[in-house]
Amino acid sequence: MLKLEWQSGGNRPVLAGKLLGMVFQKPSLRTRVSFEVAMKHLGGDAIYLSPQEIGLGTRESIPDVARVLSGYVQGIMARVYEHAHVEELARWASVPVINGLSDSAHPCQALADILTIAETFGELKGLKVAYIGDGNNVAASLLLACAQFGLDFSIATPVGYELPAHVIQKAHALNDQIEIKQCHDVHLAAQSAHVLYTDTWISMGQEAEAEQRRAVFRGYQINEQLLSLAHRRCIVLHCLPAHRGEEITDSVADGPRSAIFQQAENRLHVQKAILVQLLVH
Ligand code: CP
Ligand code: NVA
Repeated sequence: MLKLEWQSGGNRPVLAGKLLGMVFQKPSLRTRVSFEVAMKHLGGDAIYLSPQEIGLGTRESIPDVARVLSGYVQGIMARVYEHAHVEELARWASVPVINGLSDSAHPCQALADILTIAETFGELKGLKVAYIGDGNNVAASLLLACAQFGLDFSIATPVGYELPAHVIQKAHALNDQIEIKQCHDVHLAAQSAHVLYTDTWISMGQEAEAEQRRAVFRGYQINEQLLSLAHRRCIVLHCLPAHRGEEITDSVADGPRSAIFQQAENRLHVQKAILVQLLVH
């Protein structure tokens, strides 16, 4: 495993001579740094392209950006607003394109989440993941990852902020053995959960709705009281950045059940696996 290999003295330079182009329409700490560090640990390198530089779809069309970048780099990682834009990049690029978060999905995050859960419990099947908050990109990818790896999934959202129906259908299609429950009651969702997970109430691009969302989501918080309803071995996950005092309290985020920094570190190890899978021929 690449994490063990790194911890036992370093990774082999299997990506020597390879470059990753990283296209960002939104800010990032974890995704940007973990992909860049992952490339360097594996002997390659990465180029950060800020929203101002590329002007994806504004300064230059997405098909043109995809074809130009494909001539320079061996892989593209893109963080975009509209999910269709990362799909369009992938359609036109001749190199692999990785979704580093879109408004609909955050698949690299979900893989790091699964690694963190596996490291904690040693196995995945039969565990219950409970997600509290917005039925957003992070929740959607987490559900699909749970379906793929055989974990039960409960989600509590305010009315009107549920996961899209097509995501639930896709999860059922991936695995009809797991239990998927949607509700509006945080206590019901958290009951006996092995993993309590939350994310911001206000995702990037939703800043104009901030005040209204803060009112709607009040109560959709992981706190000590909610944690007391979960399984005694429950861990708490958050993709970060966290808004302490909103979706999670300080005492839980910094408490003994929190695995949020292990989870953040695992972004690095999982990015390596994704990069090796896609860029080593
Ligand atoms: N979790 C996550 O994707 O963090 P960044 O937005 O900092 O990349
Ligand atoms: N749902 C959040 C995740 C940030 C990593 C957002 O899209 O802003």
